[in-house]
Amino acid sequence: MQQQPVPRSTDLVVFGGTGDLSMRKLLPSLYLLDRDGHLDGGTRVIAVSRDGLTDADLRDKAASAVRGHSAVQVVEPDVMRRFLGRLHHVTLDVGGDRSGWTDLADLLAPDRDRVFYLAVPPMISGAICRGLSDAHLVTPESRVVMEKPLGRDLASSQAVNDEVGAVFDESRVYRIDHYLGKETVQNLLVLRFANVFLEPLWNSRWIDHVQITAAETVGVGGRRGYYDSSGAMRDMVQNHLLQLLCLTAMEPPSSYDRDAVRDEKLKVLQSLRPVQGDRVEQHTVRGQYTRGVVQGEEVLGYLDEAGGSPTSATETFVALRAEVANWRWAGVPFYLRTGKRLSHARSEIVIRFRDVPHTIFPGAGTPPGSGSLVIRLQPDEGIHLTMLAKTPGAGALRLRPVPLELSFADTFATRSPEAYERLLMDVLAADSTLFMRRDEVEAAWRWVDPIIRAWDDHDVAPEPYPSGSAGPAGAHRLIGRTGRTWHEEETPR
Ligand code: BG6
Repeated sequence: MQQQPVPRSTDLVVFGGTGDLSMRKLLPSLYLLDRDGHLDGGTRVIAVSRDGLTDADLRDKAASAVRGHSAVQVVEPDVMRRFLGRLHHVTLDVGGDRSGWTDLADLLAPDRDRVFYLAVPPMISGAICRGLSDAHLVTPESRVVMEKPLGRDLASSQAVNDEVGAVFDESRVYRIDHYLGKETVQNLLVLRFANVFLEPLWNSRWIDHVQITAAETVGVGGRRGYYDSSGAMRDMVQNHLLQLLCLTAMEPPSSYDRDAVRDEKLKVLQSLRPVQGDRVEQHTVRGQYTRGVVQGEEVLGYLDEAGGSPTSATETFVALRAEVANWRWAGVPFYLRTGKRLSHARSEIVIRFRDVPHTIFPGAGTPPGSGSLVIRLQPDEGIHLTMLAKTPGAGALRLRPVPLELSFADTFATRSPEAYERLLMDVLAADSTLFMRRDEVEAAWRWVDPIIRAWDDHDVAPEPYPSGSAGPAGAHRLIGRTGRTWHEEETPR
């Protein structure tokens, strides 16, 4: 991987270019990349949609999208002018006549890299790739970017990958998991592999268990229709949480090279012990939010939200126990948990160390399980190490857990780029280290599919939990069965 991605002159063609993802994430991120000097002067963004917009319409829409984005605090008029000048719109109906393809072909420059970004539902990815190929728009250097969902099970994922793979070689396919673009996620690799002190402890001898949490306060919003056919397992666990598990559990790669890193992640996925049969009930919990109050605001329950079935058994929460069956991790549970409409938004990886084998401070108030390393992805990105210290004073010796805190915001003056900025920069620099390879995605489905199938076969209804709570009681039973607890400690925000 290049440490400093080099911008290349590129035509970035975004299918679904006027849609939600484009307006909320892609265009604001591209604006920031332009502002920070990461877009080559010749780079253009070509939004493709059926909307019949002119370039001027698109530029108006894009300007409001950029202004409305929280990471863009001050719009710089010169940068905005330059950025909007890069934008073009092509009206194209993928299933319609050839005119849109011809317009696109006329616009594309022969001397630039081409990146085709599929910000569209996966069922039309194949048709777009065929259209590109039939219109002779795919050059040997062209890249394609795919967004999730990458299928809804192994078979559908393989089908999409086959269709895209018929046009683009695997080395040209960039599958986005935006969690891999988060600054702290990349920092996890640096923490593990650029420091010497953790590696000797990073195994079953010294680690009791690992917790990976992605808790959200938001509900499904306007995505109820999509979400009914997905659920938290497909939406969050199959991709984001398993990727975090891979980065936590993988062996040191020989270099920070795309295949070296992805080979090691793949081995972790292939080592996951299958959760099948009785183990599904023992090791997984599904939940669904009901009406409640989140951060002072009354909110609807999942079933009351518009756009989906009023009797849907879709889960908005999952907790599960995974095991990585290899020498390093044998016997160390990895507890994963994600949910919407929870009391706090927090994504973190918690490494809970074992207690000392023998205490020389009996009766000093040593709380068990107090040594932990927390890698906080959001909010307040940082690393917190909790260890035991002596409470000051001359009386009886007392121990207390105390934190050693590293806040990225306080330590580094520079702004952390948002995940999409980072990933777009890498796509433009043709660096696929932080993207998922086909075999990884399929290995993740291979592990997740039997769990979803077992839920469906046994009509396992999700356990209701009130919005604004910590999730269903079953999640606490799941981890509590072995005498452990979730890391709920609040840090100031
Ligand atoms: C997306 C999911 O991939 O990730 C959403 O589809 C979820 O349902 C989002 O809300 C969470 O991302 P982040 O970056 O806000 O943690």
